[in-house]
Amino acid sequence: MIDACGEVQSVLVLGATSEIAGATVARLARGGRLERVVLAGRPVAGREVVVERIRGLGVRTVEVVDFDARDRSRHPSLIAGAFDGGEVDVVLLSWGALPDESVVRADPLAAADVVDVNYTAVVTTLLPAAERMRAQGHGVIVVLSSAAATRGRASNALYGSTKAGVDALASGLGDALHGTGVSVVVVRPGFVRTRMTAGRQPAPLAVGPEEVAEAIATNLDRGSRTVWVPASLRYVMAALAATPRAIFRRLPI
Ligand SMILES: NC(=O)c1ccc[n+]([C@@H]2O[C@H](COP(=O)([O-])OP(=O)(O)OC[C@H]3O[C@@H](n4cnc5c(N)ncnc54)[C@H](OP(=O)(O)O)[C@@H]3O)[C@@H](O)[C@H]2O)c1
Repeated sequence: MIDACGEVQSVLVLGATSEIAGATVARLARGGRLERVVLAGRPVAGREVVVERIRGLGVRTVEVVDFDARDRSRHPSLIAGAFDGGEVDVVLLSWGALPDESVVRADPLAAADVVDVNYTAVVTTLLPAAERMRAQGHGVIVVLSSAAATRGRASNALYGSTKAGVDALASGLGDALHGTGVSVVVVRPGFVRTRMTAGRQPAPLAVGPEEVAEAIATNLDRGSRTVWVPASLRYVMAALAATPRAIFRRLPI
């Protein structure tokens, strides 16, 4: 259980090798109370590196489970297994694919695969996680949405559409869980310097994964909410939301 000082003791990470997830686990371990981390990810070489890094943070129990976002029929049992092994204070949904928009626009099946990875797999993990947390009576689910969820842009229409689905589902579920002891924190970063954005020109207000981790850690005990990273992005995106389309479509974003 998250203790009176807000320290987390157990985390289930979906997206084991995500740099945002790695920074978040490191931030949560800083208080010295993190005892159990369940790392769900594909069996890539980097996964073992992450396991060693977390052990090096002083976390006693690090469990590894195979998780492929495309393998949706296995998701409910994966979630059940993590909760059967002990209480889970925080579930972090932090995987995703950022496709080349011009490629997926020319290949509808590749586009549908991105929808499966980025959105459908959130449905098949978030819903069972919410049910188990409700039964447990406490906990926080952190969902990585994106600023891209808030308005379709020519440069990343498909990715943005998957995040819009994720954002709407997670926000609505957070409100449905109000009063149960369980909350859903929807995180909307802008450009984060990670493997996902490597080689791309950083957008204005770009941040590192540590800033996303800090925003997650400081919002865990504040109930269901939407968190922008950086916080000032909220105002930029509000201004963009109010921009007429004829002007919006000509912006270099
Ligand atoms: N970076 C940004 O600018 C940014 C901005 C807003 C939101 N986000 C969101 O933040 C989350 C984390 O991104 P990140 O920046 O930490 O990127 P990252 O370091 O590139 O991590 C992406 C993660 O997704 C996993 N993944 C991809 N396809 C998968 C699949 N089919 N099954 C299971 N795992 C899969 C990767 O695992 P493998 O190692 O197996 O490939 C990796 O763990 C994502 O949801 C992303 O959309 C990122």
